[in-house]
Amino acid sequence: MSQQKRYHTLEIQNIDLKNIELQGDVLDIGGGGEGIIGQTLENKVVAIDKLKGELEEAPEGPLKLVMDAKELKFLDNSFDNATSFFTFMYIKKEDYKVVFKEIYRVLRSDGKFKMWDTIIPKYKGGGKDIFLVPLEIDMGNKVITTTYGVLWPGREQNIDTFIKTGKDIGFKIDNYEKQDKTFFITFKK
Ligand SMILES: C[S@@+](CC[C@H](N)C(=O)[O-])C[C@H]1O[C@@H](n2cnc3c(N)ncnc32)[C@H](O)[C@@H]1O
Repeated sequence: MSQQKRYHTLEIQNIDLKNIELQGDVLDIGGGGEGIIGQTLENKVVAIDKLKGELEEAPEGPLKLVMDAKELKFLDNSFDNATSFFTFMYIKKEDYKVVFKEIYRVLRSDGKFKMWDTIIPKYKGGGKDIFLVPLEIDMGNKVITTTYGVLWPGREQNIDTFIKTGKDIGFKIDNYEKQDKTFFITFKK
């Protein structure tokens, strides 16, 4: 089967980052690739990614460090904020908890973790096994279009998955919203 026939592509999802308000410094988890949070908040951001090549690809602005989110190399209580922009769709389910625990550990008291991600339903077979999420991201001074994709089987996730994981490891839920096939959650330490 050609690669294209394997694509299950969502309609374009709109993400509004115009009014993203973060006081203090920001640790962006999986901040390589387009490095959207780094592009938006620039030198307030420390971007970590396990792949050097992804960080090299991301625009300049943040401090970029090769690091696995499962084992952050920062001391406890190091950041006011953490973010993850469509990163958890690339993280295995069995690793969610350890990554959440690491984020919680490096946040200061009252620190916030903001995550944006997509709802992925259960794969029903049929060969279209590459799940693609096209995004149009409004950053105020510019609009970026990009597409993130994963191999679908075993990757189902929804907002409840993450709210539960966050609560289980001690986060409070500050707010959350769904918009079409994407969601946004703010956790508070
Ligand atoms: C495709 S990007 C998602 C979008 C990215 N946040 C952006 O703004 O464009 C997901 C990134 O998460 C990274 N990643 C996946 N698992 C990770 C982990 N355990 N630790 C650090 N980075 C990880 C991948 O290497 C990849 O660069």
